[in-house]
Amino acid sequence: MTNGGDRVPIDAQQVDAPLSRFAVFLVLGVPDRAEGLDVVREEIAGIDDLVKTVGFRDLNAHLSCVVGIGARLWDRLCPDARPAELREFPLIVGPTHTAPPTPGDLLFHIRAERLDLCIEFERLLLDALGDAVTVIDETQGYRYFDARDFLGFVDGTANPIGAELAEASLIGDEDPGFAGGSYVVVQKYVHDLTRWSDLTTEQQEAVIGRRKADDVELDDAAPGTQAAHKTLTTIIGDDGEELDILRDNMPFGRPGQGDLGTFFIGYSRRLWVIELMLRRMFLGDPPGLHDRILDVSTALTGTTFFVPSNPVLQGLSTAPPDAPTEEPGGGTPIGRPTPHGGASETGSAGSEE
Ligand code: HEM
Repeated sequence: MTNGGDRVPIDAQQVDAPLSRFAVFLVLGVPDRAEGLDVVREEIAGIDDLVKTVGFRDLNAHLSCVVGIGARLWDRLCPDARPAELREFPLIVGPTHTAPPTPGDLLFHIRAERLDLCIEFERLLLDALGDAVTVIDETQGYRYFDARDFLGFVDGTANPIGAELAEASLIGDEDPGFAGGSYVVVQKYVHDLTRWSDLTTEQQEAVIGRRKADDVELDDAAPGTQAAHKTLTTIIGDDGEELDILRDNMPFGRPGQGDLGTFFIGYSRRLWVIELMLRRMFLGDPPGLHDRILDVSTALTGTTFFVPSNPVLQGLSTAPPDAPTEEPGGGTPIGRPTPHGGASETGSAGSEE
């Protein structure tokens, strides 16, 4: 992939992998043990080899895997340098709905046209990582009709394409040591489909901001009135241009278990853009008029990761010579906010707007 803004080829991870039929979103914790950290270094640096091993069995299935690293793990792997915006997911408390931050040291976003390839890859990966990791969340997503979510709307239409894709999702000159990297935010939402089906199609379309059947975009509501989801998630930069993110949401769940939902995943060159979208959704713009999608969608998780470029990921394979050693059982428990960010640093988002 190349970064449109800089005209320099960047060896980025496959954040731009094509829309797939299946995905596994695997969020892991890495307990504080020095041996475990070495295993993690080796496995994430060699992830491409595992993609080849499994993916070669059916090249038409386009297996890919993007590795994200949480702020707390990043500081353990690379104590001397941190991507400029890397911090933990903020607690956002709106008047009606809350976006909770939840733990996560590693994200593996595994995509393919075949679920068996995703599962085989995940199985071998977890075998190799062994007790260096704990599984925090594992969600299997699947394509539902023509890329619809369980609310029945086509999801992903406004994604950037072509040169805009790298411009929106990959870090450039602004943080040269981490150029080609990306920030990724995940949130697992479950839907109340009974409540959603109580709305008429016109009411649902007003919530989303697009027509349900043919996906055509509706006009924005008048300023100061209830805004649609597509309006609340549109962020305009200082130059008047829209600041896009790259989403690859997937429906998940089993009707028999009553847990149908949407796994939100958004990649961005600028973490603040996703955080601002979230604040506008949960707090509302104008304040008080929150995103009505939240009345039928509850966020169960919220975690932020950094996706290094391939050379930076491979460079993590060896510990820096002066890296502090970690004692078995010592250190900060997984998921607690660290002094570098998390709920305490950005939790004030609730009062920012
Ligand atoms: C647009 C669904 C959560 C950001 C859309 C659209 C749908 C949708 C149906 C319109 C079609 C499209 O352009 O893709 C959902 C569902 C969610 C969810 C079901 C969770 C329950 C989020 C979150 C964010 C977000 C958490 C950001 C933090 C966006 C953006 C757009 C969009 C940027 C495009 C806006 C535009 O420029 O038109 N979403 N979304 N969404 N969503 Fe979401």
